[in-house]
Amino acid sequence: MNVLSIVVPTYNENQTVRLLIDQLEVALRGLSYEVIFVDDSSDNTPEVIAQLCADHPRVRCIHREGQRGLATAVLEGFRMARGSVLAVMDADLQHPPEVLPRMYREIEQGADVVIASRHLPGGDDGGLHGVRRVISRTARMIGKAALHRVRSVSDPMSGFFMIRRQVIDGVHLNPVGWKILMEIVVKGRYSHLVEIPYAFRPRAANESKMSPAEIIHYLHHVARLVVQSPEDRRFWLFALVGISGVAVNTLLFAHLTKWNIFPETAAFVSGSLAMIWNFAWNCGLTWRDAPQSDPLAVTFAKFAAVALIGIAVNLVVLSVLFRLLDVPKQWANLTGIIGGALVNYRLNDRWTWRRVGDKRPRMRVS
Ligand code: GDD
Ligand code: MN
Repeated sequence: MNVLSIVVPTYNENQTVRLLIDQLEVALRGLSYEVIFVDDSSDNTPEVIAQLCADHPRVRCIHREGQRGLATAVLEGFRMARGSVLAVMDADLQHPPEVLPRMYREIEQGADVVIASRHLPGGDDGGLHGVRRVISRTARMIGKAALHRVRSVSDPMSGFFMIRRQVIDGVHLNPVGWKILMEIVVKGRYSHLVEIPYAFRPRAANESKMSPAEIIHYLHHVARLVVQSPEDRRFWLFALVGISGVAVNTLLFAHLTKWNIFPETAAFVSGSLAMIWNFAWNCGLTWRDAPQSDPLAVTFAKFAAVALIGIAVNLVVLSVLFRLLDVPKQWANLTGIIGGALVNYRLNDRWTWRRVGDKRPRMRVS
C-alpha cells in the first residue's frame, strides 16, 4: 500500500491547523494518507493539535519542548512517517491542499521529487512583498550560483514538496535553518525531479515566523552544502586553483620579461609552469577523493594537452594585443591568460576530469 505522509511543521499556528485538516480531507479524498504535525509552539497550538489527533485517526503529532528550527522539525516528521511518499507543507494555508493530488500523480508517474513552485509560469508568489521579495530573489540567486543541482530548480526554497522515501533513505541530512528542500535537492538520491506551478496564498492568520536571522542561517547552509557536495566542492576548488594559477603565471611573466627575451617566450614558459602548478593542486585538492576513469599519467597528458591549447590562445592574444595594438605586455598577457583559462576550463570540464559514473538527474517542468 502506498501511503502518503504529510509533514506539517508548526510554530504558533492555533488558528489554522483545524482548517488545514478539513481542507486536506476534501482534497485527498480516496487517498491513503497521514498528517504529522511537528510542533515547537509556545502558545496553545499543542492543545489544539492534541485534540485533532484524538478526533482524527489520520493525524499524528509530536511536540518538541524547548527546540526550534523548521528544517529539523521536518526531519523529525520524516523519522515518524510511515508512508512511502513524504510531503511537506506549511500549516498556515499558504500552501493550497488542492495541489497535493497533482503532486502525488507526478510521483505515481515516476517522479522522485515534486516541487510546488511559485516561480514558474502559472505560479504566483503573492504572499511576498517589497523587501522580502528582493531578499528572497537574492537568496535564490546565491543558491543557484553556488550549487549546481539548485541551478535548474525554479523554487529551491519552496516549503511545499513531495518525495519518494528512497530519495533520502540512508542520506545524511543536516540542514541549518529553514531550507530543507535545498538540502534534499543537493544531497538526495533521485533521477527525476518535477516542478509544478502553484499560487502562494496570503497568510490566513497569525504571523510569519521568518526572521532576519534566517538570512544568516541560509548563507551558512549554502556554504555547508558547497563543502558537503562533492560536485560543488570540486567546482569551487577548481576555480580557486585556476585563480591561483593566473597569479603564478602573471608573476612569473613579470620576472621573465625583465630579461631580454620575447614576451611570447616568457608567456610560454610561465604558462607551462603555471600549468604544472595547477595540475599539482588539482591532484592534491580538487580531485583527491574523486575516482577517476583514467590513470594519473593519462590524466596529466590530457591536462597538458588542454593546457597547451590554452597557452596557444594566450600567445595569440598576447601577440595581437602587444604587437598590433600596442597594449602594454603585462596587460596583453593577462588578457591572454584569461582567454586561455576560459578555453581550458571548458575542455577540462568536458574531457580531462571526466568522472566515473558522471550522470546528472533529469529535471522537468510539468
Ligand atoms: N516546528 C516548527 N519549528 N515549525 C516552524 C518553525 C519552527 O521553529 N518556524 C516556522 N515553522 C512553521 C510555521 O508554523 C509554518 O507552518 C511553516 O513552518 C512556515 O513558516 P511561515 O512563518 O509561515 O513561513 P513563511 O510563510 O514566511 O515562509 C514560507 O515561504 C518561504 C520562502 O519564502 C515557507 O514556505 C518557507 O518554507 C519558505 O522557505
Ligand atoms: Mn507562511
